Amino acid sequence: MATRVPEETINKIRTETNIVDVVSQYVQLKKRGKNYFGFCPFHDERTPSFSVTDEKQIFHCFSCGRGGNVFSFLMEVEGIGFIEAVQKTAEIAEIPLDLQLNDSEPRSPLHNKKEQLIAIHEAAVAFYHQVLMNTVTGEGALAYLKQRGFTEELLKEFQVGFSPPNKLTTQQILAKQNFNHEALQESGIFTDRSENGELLDRFAARIMFPLRDEKGRTVAFSGRMLPNEEPVQSDYHEAKYLNSPETIIFSKRNFLFNLDKARKEMRKTSEVILFEGYMDVISAFQAGVTNGVASMGTSLTDEQIRMMNKLVDSVVISYDGDRAGIEATKKAIDLLQVGNRFDLSVFPLPPGMDPDDYIQAKGAEAFRHAITTQRETIFHFQGRYLRSQINMDSEKDRIHYLEQMVKLLVKVDSIIEREMYLNELAQDFDMDANVLKKQLQEYQKDHLKNQTKERKQAKEEPIVTTIQPSVKKKYNLVEVSERQLLYRLFHHEEAWSYLRELSPDFHFTDETHQTIYMLYDAFHDEMEEVGHIDAFLDWVKDVKLIEKVIEIEMIDLQADLSPQEITDLIGVIGSQSLHTRIQQKKNAIKEANRDQDKERAKQLLEEYIVLTRELKQTKQ
Ligand code: UTP
Ligand code: MN
Repeated sequence: MATRVPEETINKIRTETNIVDVVSQYVQLKKRGKNYFGFCPFHDERTPSFSVTDEKQIFHCFSCGRGGNVFSFLMEVEGIGFIEAVQKTAEIAEIPLDLQLNDSEPRSPLHNKKEQLIAIHEAAVAFYHQVLMNTVTGEGALAYLKQRGFTEELLKEFQVGFSPPNKLTTQQILAKQNFNHEALQESGIFTDRSENGELLDRFAARIMFPLRDEKGRTVAFSGRMLPNEEPVQSDYHEAKYLNSPETIIFSKRNFLFNLDKARKEMRKTSEVILFEGYMDVISAFQAGVTNGVASMGTSLTDEQIRMMNKLVDSVVISYDGDRAGIEATKKAIDLLQVGNRFDLSVFPLPPGMDPDDYIQAKGAEAFRHAITTQRETIFHFQGRYLRSQINMDSEKDRIHYLEQMVKLLVKVDSIIEREMYLNELAQDFDMDANVLKKQLQEYQKDHLKNQTKERKQAKEEPIVTTIQPSVKKKYNLVEVSERQLLYRLFHHEEAWSYLRELSPDFHFTDETHQTIYMLYDAFHDEMEEVGHIDAFLDWVKDVKLIEKVIEIEMIDLQADLSPQEITDLIGVIGSQSLHTRIQQKKNAIKEANRDQDKERAKQLLEEYIVLTRELKQTKQ
């Protein structure tokens, strides 16, 4: 591709960025030794085999073999090209960069369309916010919000707005900014019920909450109706909240409200508070609980769970205290428990209260305190849930309850916790704890049996995977030596001089190794320094080669290099390559004899003798 970004610019961006920071935006990393580990974002796995090295500025998955530098990571994870990855890295690292991307790498039409839709949303955000804060039209909405405890600062932070009751106003305002009509139509802000091509604001007369994606760009809206106000339209069953429809920039399944603002605190505390409503998220935010997000009034999707899993270990569910809220909590627990990825708990609210009500009633301080100290374990929540469904005065129901609760104990990992709950149950029902313990052991046995069965079944099923676990690769002595030599060449200036001195015509037996060697040689001439593997990867470009380089780089040899080591390595590799060449000559001679080509056979024989002599010398 003809794209040219100055080499220095690319180098500057790479060196000024820490790959750990960039990867952390996608994968939750934990430091272990020199490296960081997490779950590989490129495939599903149960134990973390994805590593990032701060020192080398590269990543590598021991399970699927993917690896590379910061740019390759973004290319793969975002599905973008090299230049875009460079640009994105610059963005994350906050390095100003003015690339004339459009000249060199034509953007896809879809990309352009997406950007247009986002621009329309940003313009609409500004307009609605202006209407709310500074116009007579917005006075009613502003008064309502203030009465609900919104400060001007908070309204500004969330860019809350108001859409004027006149359905035509928004289009008139946006038209002044030269947005293309088709893009406006596709934005989801308007309904196309108009006859003369006019676009009608579907949110007219609603309080507008911008829905921002994880990068903070508004991609949709949710409009809340004003209380005590006649609906603009004649249908009386309008929803309290109206959300944008699905568009090319907005999909409910993939969306978590407030993720952009919550992200930092989520990563820091490794915890997220999950709310039902936007109002709860915003209220909690103002109260100083800034790691809150909400799904869109629907049950959690796999995508949303994965989004959270990338950032946190713990989820605190803080849904409404009504029946619907309790049911939703039960459902969320069931979904979040799959794969045992989170440490879960519930913040129980009094019946009829949502977190926002709680904050308004008891104050920010009380909420902050309560949400950290009054968490209910999943076991206790499940007990509460079960009790709410049965009649505890009925003996039959009570037995059922006890059995169910003991069954649930099987899933409690901690022995101490299990013991505690068991005693609690025994006390509540005035029973001998040993009886319950016996029952628990029965259930545990059943559980184990089931698990073994499942495991067996899983084993019998053929595992279809395209991923070759690279850890299990076995190398022969020559391969090991070649890899080790490459590692030394990557890191030690002396390795080059030893090699050139000892074997001026050195050649790797493995063609891939030879290619890497030649590429690194060229790179090293340019850089005049060894050791910049992350920079070298940009030279290599080819994914297969990059993975190979990363694999070699992960060998991690001790820092000291002696000339003897290089001599030994060259010895092993050289003898092997002589062996192969001798073998090849032998075969060729056989062939020439078969063809009765005496001239050629003689020539080959001479070459064969030279090689065997060489081999003898290396052995001395
Ligand atoms: P709630 O009715 O609990 O909203 O709905 P809330 O946040 O407490 O709002 P206030 O306090 O009444 O202003 C919870 C969530 O369900 C979705 C929205 O995502 C909302 O935040 N919802 C609710 C809708 O999408 N449409 C509706 O009509 C109602
Ligand atoms: Mn509410």
